[in-house]
Amino acid sequence: MSLHSPRVVVGLTGGIAAYKVVSVIRELVADGCDVHVVPSESALNFVGRATLEAISRNPVHDTIFDGVAEVRHVALGQSADVILVAPATANTLSALATGRADTLMLTTILASRAPLVVAPAMHTEMWENAATRSNVATLRERGVTLVGPGVGRLTGTDSGIGRLAEPAEIVAAVRASCGTHDLVGLNIVVTTGGTREPIDPVRFIGNRSSGIQGIALATAAQARGATVTLIAGALDVPLPSQLTCVRVETAEDMRSAVRAAHATADVVIMAAAISDYRVETVSSEKLKKSAGVPEIRLVENPDILAELGSLKSGTFLVGFAAETSVERFAEFAADKARRKGVDLLVANSVADNAVFGSQDTDVHLFDGRGVAVDSVRGSKVSVAHRILDHISRWKDTHQ
Ligand code: CTP
Repeated sequence: MSLHSPRVVVGLTGGIAAYKVVSVIRELVADGCDVHVVPSESALNFVGRATLEAISRNPVHDTIFDGVAEVRHVALGQSADVILVAPATANTLSALATGRADTLMLTTILASRAPLVVAPAMHTEMWENAATRSNVATLRERGVTLVGPGVGRLTGTDSGIGRLAEPAEIVAAVRASCGTHDLVGLNIVVTTGGTREPIDPVRFIGNRSSGIQGIALATAAQARGATVTLIAGALDVPLPSQLTCVRVETAEDMRSAVRAAHATADVVIMAAAISDYRVETVSSEKLKKSAGVPEIRLVENPDILAELGSLKSGTFLVGFAAETSVERFAEFAADKARRKGVDLLVANSVADNAVFGSQDTDVHLFDGRGVAVDSVRGSKVSVAHRILDHISRWKDTHQ
């Protein structure tokens, strides 16, 4: 199984919640998964093939008699790292429990040894029916992971249990089922986003950090079994709801939050872009243009990473470096690794601004002596996994 881009087969069945599964597919693809959708015939009444192909970036097949020569159901079933059935209707739960195999989706599931994640969605009466209860119990006994259903608005005006679980919850269950759990027992603190240093009540000094890399690290570490605390400054992207997060604004707030979390952390990953300077005297009133061009005096902020590095507390420290010099990239990065006392430094070139806000990046990894040890080019999710691979190796030798 490839840890970096697991193959996920999504069995989409014919319920109104099928439209929400489009977001699940989208998030899985953004998370680096290779997603293949196998819809039931009725599912295509709810979501069109074109949408599924565009979002999954793979062709969509729905009949056993299409591509017979390659025995598609066996090929897909055997190559899957995880199969997700969502939304799982009462009819599909029954088919799964009895091992029916009369559609491409059902034959693919029977032809697979991959973990099965099922996200049911139906009306409360159907979910609570004894037949459905019994099918669900059978699936649970066989080791199938059930996500949801949740309680809330159903189709129409009624509400109750039976609502499809939230997309983020489904994505986390899929990720947890297909990943290794090599980071169980580690307490990992990740910082992300940019700090904002106030000038007056409406203005601040900020930076172009989006927070995507830190969120990818926190999500991936959690999926691999770590206990994760995310400390986030300003972000350009939404926070996944399954992450425990402390929100901060300034470098000083970030420092307090990191120091508090560091006490019990095995690993601290400083992916946040922290302002090196703050405004010496923050104006309590909005600066008026009529008062003339202001002179803003800056003072240095504490370097949180370097402070942690100097403690030599045994915590594995990961620092980030954004370098604009192409010629002296390795020299600056190696120097930063040594100067800040980190165990691993992740350096990326921001010479052309391409990395900010992008899902892709290109990084070079240096150890604490400034020796280049690795490099990765790809999605921020795959970079996150590679950084975690180094942490996993450290864990094996230190715990
Ligand atoms: N960092 C920190 N506290 C600060 C500034 C940066 O902990 N006040 C951390 C960042 O989270 C990141 C690393 O240090 O892990 C980035 O350092 P960077 O700002 O790129 O390096 P500098 O020390 O500013 O060096 P230079 O100005 O030479 O690039």
